[in-house]
Amino acid sequence: MSEKDDRFNLSRARDDSGESRGLPRANDDSGESRGLPRANDDSGESRGVSRRDFLKSAGVGGLATAVTAAGAAEAEAQTGPRVVGPGDVPVTLIVNGKRLELRIEPRVTLLDAIRNRADLTGNKRVCDRGTCGACTMIVDGRTIYSCSTLAIDMVGKQIRTVDGLSTGNVLHPVQQAFCDVDALMCGFCTPGFVVAATALLERYPNPTPEQARKGLDGNVCRCGTFVRIMEATMAAAAKGVRRV
Ligand code: FES
Ligand code: FES
Repeated sequence: MSEKDDRFNLSRARDDSGESRGLPRANDDSGESRGLPRANDDSGESRGVSRRDFLKSAGVGGLATAVTAAGAAEAEAQTGPRVVGPGDVPVTLIVNGKRLELRIEPRVTLLDAIRNRADLTGNKRVCDRGTCGACTMIVDGRTIYSCSTLAIDMVGKQIRTVDGLSTGNVLHPVQQAFCDVDALMCGFCTPGFVVAATALLERYPNPTPEQARKGLDGNVCRCGTFVRIMEATMAAAAKGVRRV
């Protein structure tokens, strides 16, 4: 064997003598434990918990865990959320700063509750499936599709619709900008765009074109007035939009 081969052999964790020179093993060939203690060594004498005892206790422990989990699930089923409906239930919404006391079925969407029960018809129902943005409202500062949101889930939150943006006869700066630059054709998408642009400018008072595009990308104008809508949004930003 060459000198190089010799060096290589000496560097191995275990040499030909059978003795470990590297990481300690749990049990070497002598049968004696040098690392992690064994439950029972070759002498037949128990030094701790036997494998059988361990397996028994693990089985009992597992069973106990399963029984506890089943009990917890049963307890949760008994104390879980109260079932309401399917008939009308009282629901209180805070819309544009006012309390609305409604009686609606739990399945009613926020858009339907506000348009059909509270007579606030500014926001439109167009696709009714969360794709066009015409129904966009602001809830606790974030835009949502009200056609795809249950009214009963909005209890206790601050809801803002396009109806609440103007002050008396004075239009909100975003509404005014849409009028000034003629940013609409049929107008079905306009309430949703106005609300989305308002939420955008309350968050980014001086948005970059990229931020503006991103803020409005949840809304669709089928008439294709995107250029004017962007123009109106930037014009409103130039005038300043107060954070509510
Ligand atoms: S009507 Fe709600 S997203 Fe189109
Ligand atoms: S103005 Fe008609 S859909 Fe936008």
